[in-house]
Amino acid sequence: MSVVSPPLAGGGLVAFARDLAYRVVAEPLEFWLHEVAPTFSLSETLAEVVAVVDETPDIRTFVLAPNARFRGHRAGQWVPVDVEIDGVRVRRCYSISSAPGGARLSITVKRVPGGRVSGFLHENARVGAILRLGEAQGDYVLPARAPARLLLVSGGSGATPNISILRDLVARGAVPDVVYLHYARTLADVPFAKELQGLAAVHPSLQVVLQLDDGPPRDLAELVPDFADRETFLCGPTGLMDLLRRRWAETGAIDHLHEERFVAPTYARVDSGKTARITLSRARRTLTVTGAESLLEGLERAGERPDHGCRIGICHTCRCRKRSGVVQDLVTGAISDAPDEEIRLCTSVARSDLDLAL
Ligand SMILES: Cc1cc2nc3c(=O)[nH]c(=O)nc-3n(C[C@H](O)[C@H](O)[C@H](O)COP(=O)(O)OP(=O)(O)OC[C@H]3O[C@@H](n4cnc5c(N)ncnc54)[C@H](O)[C@@H]3O)c2cc1C
Ligand code: FES
Repeated sequence: MSVVSPPLAGGGLVAFARDLAYRVVAEPLEFWLHEVAPTFSLSETLAEVVAVVDETPDIRTFVLAPNARFRGHRAGQWVPVDVEIDGVRVRRCYSISSAPGGARLSITVKRVPGGRVSGFLHENARVGAILRLGEAQGDYVLPARAPARLLLVSGGSGATPNISILRDLVARGAVPDVVYLHYARTLADVPFAKELQGLAAVHPSLQVVLQLDDGPPRDLAELVPDFADRETFLCGPTGLMDLLRRRWAETGAIDHLHEERFVAPTYARVDSGKTARITLSRARRTLTVTGAESLLEGLERAGERPDHGCRIGICHTCRCRKRSGVVQDLVTGAISDAPDEEIRLCTSVARSDLDLAL
């Protein structure tokens, strides 16, 4: 396990003294404490895998004991997870499936065919393994006053934020009129099936509805007749989300729909065929990106390590101020030359030379 120095503030003598103090005192101390307690760190949020649970043939829960740097989460939020694969640190986002408030948290990961990080976690994150986490974030959370009528809709691993919301309501003894609707191939592919069955048995206001591919097909209006009147939280595969979103839009209830996407909406990449010069005004560096790559990809290719999370325009971790120049947003296709504008590096491509506040 490598020990990472915290970033140094200020310059000159003060920075030199802090750097020296860190290297002489804190770094060796951290190393030895880390030998005793593997999640001990002054600079990073580390978490030990303390249990692994098979939920379905391809979905697995990892129960984590984080160090004191983890500041907790709200039900429905996600956390960045960093793993090292072949010496390269790779980051993905995972919704937290446990209720907030405990000393532990869990993530529930579907193994995506050919997926780098999901495959790595399924194969390597055994009990005792250490993962690096970021801060929990995201706005797929219940409003301060839980709605009187709630619909939690999911498919596949999209069940993760919804089970966290449901577990939170149960833990607080405040289960309103909730319908938990999950779409799956077969009963064996429903994550948390036993727990859901148990909860429905003791909470009369909770209804669990499953739509299985190997059962008779039923329309949404049949499954949840009053769906448009319920505050709805939807998370699942792109096809399911697009289909259901249209239903809420058609019924004029789109304002009641909250969505969490794990995969980027499909958009066409347009290659301008031109390179652009990017000035990083804080780093005092100039580099070149192509018209085919996102700014995040271009900066990484040039050796920069900008902060990022999802890489698909969802989490806003990569937001940055563009001081001048023209960018195209890959998701909306919109081209903007506005000065002093906030952009997302992962979904923006350069359409002229740029000055970025990085
Ligand atoms: C906010 C947020 C929360 C998330 N929460 C969860 C969660 O709780 N559980 C979970 O399992 N995943 C979750 N994800 C998805 C997760 O971050 C990874 O994208 C996923 O594990 C695949 O990563 P990978 O490295 O294995 O695949 P990659 O190597 O990145 O991709 C391999 C291939 O799989 C495709 N792919 C990527 N993700 C998916 C997917 N979810 N379904 C189908 N195909 C996919 C890619 O397009 C690519 O073609 C979340 C994503 C976001 C943005
Ligand atoms: S990395 Fe998540 S929005 Fe760019």
